[in-house]
Amino acid sequence: MKNASPKVTLLEDYKKLPFTVESIELCFDLDDTNTVVTTTSNIHRSPAAIGEPLVLNGEELKLLEVLIDGRTLSEQEYQIDNSFLKILSPPVSFSLTVKTEINPKNNTSLDGLYKSGDIFCTQNEPEGFRRITYFFDRPDVMATFTTKIIADKKKYPVLLSNGNEVDKGDLANGRHFVVWHDPFPKPCYLYALVAGDLGSITDSFVTCSGRTIDLRIYCDKGNESKCVHSMRSLKKSMKWDEDVYGLEYDLDIFMIVAVDAFNFGAMENKGLNIFNTSCALADEKTATDDNFYRVEGVIAHEYFHNWTGNRVTCRDWFQLTLKEGLTVFRDQEFSADMNSRPVKRIEDVANLRATQFVEDAGPMAHPIKPKSYIEINNFYTTTIYEKGAEIIRMIHTLLGKDLFRKGIDKYFELYDGQAVTTEDFISAMEQASGKDLKAFSQWYHQSGTPDVYVNYRYFEEKKELVIDIKQKNSPTADQQEKKPLYFPFKIGLVDKTGNDVTLDEADSMLIVSKDKEQFILQGISEKPVLSINRNFSAPVKVHSSHTNDELMFLMAHDSDEFNRWDSAQELATRLMLLQLKENSLEVDAGYIQSFGKILKYDSLDYSFKALALTLPSEDTLAQRQDEIDFDGNHRVRKLFVLKLAETYYSDFLALYQQLSNVDGFDVDPVSMGRRRLRNVCLNYLCLTKNSEAINLCYRQFQDGTNMTDVFAALKILANIDVKERENALQQFYSKWSHDPLVMCKWFTVQSASTLEGALHVTKTLMSDPAFSITLPNIVRALLGGFIGNHVQFHAADGEGYQFIADCIVKLDKINPHVAARLATSFRKYNKLDKGRKVHLKAAMDKILALNDLTPHVYEVVSKCSQSDS
Ligand code: TRP
Ligand code: ZN
Repeated sequence: MKNASPKVTLLEDYKKLPFTVESIELCFDLDDTNTVVTTTSNIHRSPAAIGEPLVLNGEELKLLEVLIDGRTLSEQEYQIDNSFLKILSPPVSFSLTVKTEINPKNNTSLDGLYKSGDIFCTQNEPEGFRRITYFFDRPDVMATFTTKIIADKKKYPVLLSNGNEVDKGDLANGRHFVVWHDPFPKPCYLYALVAGDLGSITDSFVTCSGRTIDLRIYCDKGNESKCVHSMRSLKKSMKWDEDVYGLEYDLDIFMIVAVDAFNFGAMENKGLNIFNTSCALADEKTATDDNFYRVEGVIAHEYFHNWTGNRVTCRDWFQLTLKEGLTVFRDQEFSADMNSRPVKRIEDVANLRATQFVEDAGPMAHPIKPKSYIEINNFYTTTIYEKGAEIIRMIHTLLGKDLFRKGIDKYFELYDGQAVTTEDFISAMEQASGKDLKAFSQWYHQSGTPDVYVNYRYFEEKKELVIDIKQKNSPTADQQEKKPLYFPFKIGLVDKTGNDVTLDEADSMLIVSKDKEQFILQGISEKPVLSINRNFSAPVKVHSSHTNDELMFLMAHDSDEFNRWDSAQELATRLMLLQLKENSLEVDAGYIQSFGKILKYDSLDYSFKALALTLPSEDTLAQRQDEIDFDGNHRVRKLFVLKLAETYYSDFLALYQQLSNVDGFDVDPVSMGRRRLRNVCLNYLCLTKNSEAINLCYRQFQDGTNMTDVFAALKILANIDVKERENALQQFYSKWSHDPLVMCKWFTVQSASTLEGALHVTKTLMSDPAFSITLPNIVRALLGGFIGNHVQFHAADGEGYQFIADCIVKLDKINPHVAARLATSFRKYNKLDKGRKVHLKAAMDKILALNDLTPHVYEVVSKCSQSDS
């Protein structure tokens, strides 16, 4: 934990381990504070390793005994410090028994074995297993696991681990045991154990080959009915993976356990996924449509890992995107098939731009395959996940659906049961498709978002369209030298009437690979408007020569829905930034008119319309500024939305009413879209502070029969200074203070409220009885809400920075993962004005001056504080 010389792990230092482990047997004698873990592994030493000691990872363990082939080792035969157990001269083939004691109750970092309420559970990815026992905690060591769990039968009637249950029985003193065996060799990061007095729902799934799989979802008693949506999503995922990829589930049982205390969304442990309750539980009364949608996506993501992650896993953690990028791509496609494809694409790209583009432009920039890290936990990033998925998507676009599928088949044919690299994945794709992906592979090694400049001219006499494309890859915090990237650039030409000009395949997908290139399209009979980077075929920033009129034309006519949405966003962004620069108060009349057209256009896809009617965020504006104007961005966006709200008040009201009066609650895309659009209307109406609108909102809050509508109304009220605000917040609290997931929403709307005083409110809420500093969901809800609150967190007096710095220091002692995530909020440092910089620097220096920081927080804060350019 020394800051001065943090240990850096390098990709180039990877060495194959000269030992193999065939199998491991574990026995847990569960106890809140003194759990005894006894493990026995069968280990072989390779001939190359003669004379090499056996080095096992281990942290926060109390070693009780080490035995080789049943003989207790003397203290001369091994060495131990706070991260390793070294056995000095191991034999060639032997069984190693390690007996340790651990304290699950004290484990607030939530990796290894810990307690979430009354439930024992584990989180071992990436390096949690070393907090359970001494072992080779690296993903290329794959063994079969057999687990015996012993626990008090009354308190822990349900005892689970990976694979199949093979034995169980009662023991003395009210204790009992269960034995589980997982026949698939796996790395220890996929190992899981759960014990508790759990409720559950069960179902089954018949696979394509006719096997019946037993499906179980476990949760705290009382929440069983909230698991129904998860179960439905699981069955859809299983079917989809068979239909689209021919991938069948392999064990006879698949279990999911939902726990409150969890660092991330969920974890793909073999046959026993563990979920954050926020990604597993949902019902009409307590969850919003967004929650339902996320549950479906995360269930799919973890289920899909069974093949992309578990059957084929990563050689080392530098390969993380191998499983995460691919699995995100798969879950995105699943969600697109289950819901609206264009809407899903728009949401994914909006998220990529809002998070990944920002990461890539800041102090934490890294390629999807990094070359070094201090703390691997800090590399579960939007770059590895979401940009990783975009890289896979480009391969899909370049190869086409059929060759891509052939490549995936090849990947499993070559690597099933192995721990491999991203190069192995690319190689499978090349072998199956016959295409050379060498130039493309640079995406794995280069950080930063390419800026792509597009100019086009039409030549009447020659009937030619000339498109000039330049890509600029600017230096990033981690990497000075850049190469041009290779990417598919989908385009279309829209004629005067708004229809697409027919293009052959090569012309509709340009392959860009050099800094500068020119494409000439022939036989174009009239001057078209160019639609660029359709469906966001490449994860780049496009700078086009489009005029505002051309953007308006595209937002009305482009056959590519993504670009229809994107043209509107681009236009609004340009106009807002211009307005800010000119300090004018007049909103562009043409824009107001085309916004009105979208509003009045009777499109059936409600969600698409809701998205099209939502203006770019303040964060989007901030991304276009070298020095962020937080207050200005807030002011100008507010001016725009208010102008639109006033201009179209009666249309919003009519649409709101037209979308009301629906019986029943469904979570199909149409019903969800209807609620979404209706709540967008309500938001515009309320911005005018018209008392009729406020009443409507308050009524929706009180009479709403589902959380989507209730919460939408609460969120609107939380941002308006009206008397109904306080009433609503209080009513919501008294109704839901017993439910932590619902309380998360209540915390967020307040800390994220742009009204004055959010900082004070956030501080006060930290001592609310519903707040809990050991529950990541609650901490993220309150503090995450605040750091996303630009005007308040970045207040010029620096109070927001100081507050978050204090929280980071406090949290680092409790849960360094949560603390380090919170610290990423400092990554805008290099884009702050002078005054704010001084305040943020002081806050960061105060953190860095502490000498007992974890590497997690140290890595993030030191990188941010060095980013002043
Ligand atoms: N592999 C998990 C996923 O599907 C991510 C994850 C869950 C994780 N829990 C974690 C990563 C804890 C690091 C630490 O995406
Ligand atoms: Zn994942």
